[in-house]
Amino acid sequence: MRVFNAALLAFMAVTALASPGPNRPSVKCHPKQPSRPFPHSPPRNPKRICTVLAETADAGPSILAAARKCNHGGTVYFPPGKTYTIATVLDLTFLANIDFAILGNIKFKDDLTYWQAHAFQYSFQSASLFWRFGGRDVNIYGLGTGSIDGLGDTWWAAWATNSSVARPILFGTDGLHGATISGLKLINPPNWFNFISNSSEVIISDMNLSAISKNASVAVKNSDGWDTYRSSNIVIQNSVIHNTDDCVSFKPNSTEIIVQNLRCTGSHGISVGSLGQYQGEFDIVENIHVYNISMSNATDGARIKIWPGVAPGTVGSTVGGGAGRVKNITYEKYTNINNDQVIALTQCYATSNTTLCALYPSEIIVKDVIFNDFVGVMSKKYDPIAGYLICSV
Ligand SMILES: *[C@@H]1O[C@H](CO)[C@@H](O)[C@H](O)[C@H]1NC(C)=O
Ligand SMILES: *[C@@H]1O[C@H](CO)[C@@H](O)[C@H](O)[C@H]1NC(C)=O
Ligand SMILES: *[C@@H]1O[C@H](CO)[C@@H](O)[C@H](O)[C@H]1NC(C)=O
Ligand SMILES: *[C@@H]1O[C@H](CO)[C@@H](O)[C@H](O)[C@H]1NC(C)=O
Ligand SMILES: *[C@@H]1O[C@H](CO)[C@@H](O)[C@H](O)[C@H]1NC(C)=O
Ligand SMILES: *[C@@H]1O[C@H](CO)[C@@H](O)[C@H](O)[C@H]1NC(C)=O
Ligand SMILES: *[C@@H]1O[C@H](CO)[C@@H](O)[C@H](O)[C@H]1NC(C)=O
Ligand SMILES: *[C@@H]1O[C@H](CO)[C@@H](O)[C@H](O)[C@H]1NC(C)=O
Ligand SMILES: *[C@@H]1O[C@H](CO)[C@@H](O)[C@H](O)[C@H]1NC(C)=O
Repeated sequence: MRVFNAALLAFMAVTALASPGPNRPSVKCHPKQPSRPFPHSPPRNPKRICTVLAETADAGPSILAAARKCNHGGTVYFPPGKTYTIATVLDLTFLANIDFAILGNIKFKDDLTYWQAHAFQYSFQSASLFWRFGGRDVNIYGLGTGSIDGLGDTWWAAWATNSSVARPILFGTDGLHGATISGLKLINPPNWFNFISNSSEVIISDMNLSAISKNASVAVKNSDGWDTYRSSNIVIQNSVIHNTDDCVSFKPNSTEIIVQNLRCTGSHGISVGSLGQYQGEFDIVENIHVYNISMSNATDGARIKIWPGVAPGTVGSTVGGGAGRVKNITYEKYTNINNDQVIALTQCYATSNTTLCALYPSEIIVKDVIFNDFVGVMSKKYDPIAGYLICSV
C-alpha cells in the first residue's frame, strides 16, 4: 500500500511539472527592431499566483479579484483544460507589473442583450469592448495553449437579421504601456479581434487568430485582426490569421509600428486607414514597416484607404473631410497567393463618384510610401489589373 502511494505521488509530481504553469515566455522582436527600445519587465514573484475560478457562471468577478490581489508583482493564472466564461464587463485598466497566464479557455457568454447594454463604448467607429486592459508592465500569455473565444456565430447570425446589433470587439487595450501579448489562440470575434488603443511599447507575438462560421449561410462579420488607434511603438509579429476583413489596420494616429512575419488568409490585406472619415479631425499614420508577409486569398495585399474631402459647408461629416498625413510607410517582402489586387491605394475611399472626389480632394497628404519586393500569383478576378493608385488631385 505504502509503495503504491509513493508511486502515485511520484506520478502526480511528474504531471504537475509537465503541465505548463505560469511561466512567462521570452518575447523578442524579430527580425526588425523598433527604433526605441522596449522597457524591461522584471520577473514576477513566483509565490504570488492568483488562480481564477473555472467552470463558474461568470468568471468576471474572479478575474477582477485576482487582478487586484496580484497587481504589483504577481500572476493571474487560468489553469489549462478548463473553461472560464465571462458574462460581465471587466475593466482592467489599473494594471501595474502583473502577468496574465491564460492557459485555459476563455469564452464570452453570448448574451446579446447584456453586452449591448454594458460593453465599454467608444465613439470611434462605434467600437465596443467586452473587457479592456490598461496600465504599465503587463504580460499576457497563452504559451500556445490558452484561447479566447467570442462565440461569434451567435452575433454574426443576429447581425444578419438586424444590422443594428452592436457587436463587441474580442480583445482591447486602452492605455496599455510596456506589454507583451503572446501565444494565445483567438477564436470567432463578434466584431474585430483586437483594438489596440491609447497604447505604446506593446509586442504581440505568436498568436493564432481564426474566424470561421460554423453555418455556411451565415457570413463572418468584420473580424479585423489588429486595429491600432492612438498608439505608438507597437510590434505585431509571428502570427497566423484566418479572417474576412483587414488582417491588420492602422487607424488614426498609429505611429512607429512594425508588422512582420505574418501569414494572413482570406482577409482584406494590411491596410492604412480608413483615414479622414471624420471632419474636423487630424489623422496621422507614419513610420510603419510591414515586412515579410504571406497573404493568401485576400481581396487586397497592401492597402491605403483615405476618404475624400467634402463639399464646403458640409458640417460634421462622418463620410470624409478629415485632414491628416500618411508618411513613411514601407510594405516589404510580400508574397501574394491568389489575391484579387496586390496594391490598392485610394484617396477616394467609398466614393463611386470620381467627379465629386476630384472636385473635393482629400485633406490627407500621402508621402514616402514604398512597396518593395512583391512576388506571387494573383486571382483572375481583375486580370490583368494588379491594383490601383487613385489620387484625388
Ligand atoms: C435591432 O437591434 C437593435 C439593437 O440591439 C434593437 O434596438 C432593435 O430593437 C432591433 N430591431 C429588431 C427589429 O429586432
Ligand atoms: C483614449 O484616450 C482618450 C483621452 O483620454 C479617451 O477619451 C478615449 O476614450 C480613450 N480610448 C479610445 C479608444 O480612444
Ligand atoms: C490556428 O488555429 C486554427 C483553428 O483552431 C487551426 O486549424 C490551425 O491549425 C492553427 N494554426 C497554427 C499555425 O497553429
Ligand atoms: C444557418 O443559418 C440559416 C440562416 O440564418 C438558418 O436558417 C439555419 O437554420 C442555420 N442552420 C443551422 C444548422 O443553425
Ligand atoms: C518570414 O516569415 C516566416 C513565417 O511566416 C518565417 O518562417 C520566415 O523565417 C520569415 N523570413 C524572414 C526573412 O524573416
Ligand atoms: C492625432 O494626433 C494629432 C496631433 O497630435 C491630434 O491633433 C489629433 O487630435 C489626434 N487624433 C486622434 C484621433 O486622436
Ligand atoms: C520610417 O519608419 C521606419 C519604421 O518605423 C523607421 O525605422 C524609420 O526611422 C523612419 N524614417 C524616418 C525618416 O523617420
Ligand atoms: C485559398 O483558397 C483556395 C481555393 O478555395 C484553397 O484551395 C486554399 O487552400 C486557400 N488557401 C489557404 C492558405 O487557405
Ligand atoms: C457626381 O458628382 C457631380 C458633382 O457633384 C454631379 O454633377 C454628378 O451628377 C454626380 N454623378 C452621379 C452619377 O451621381
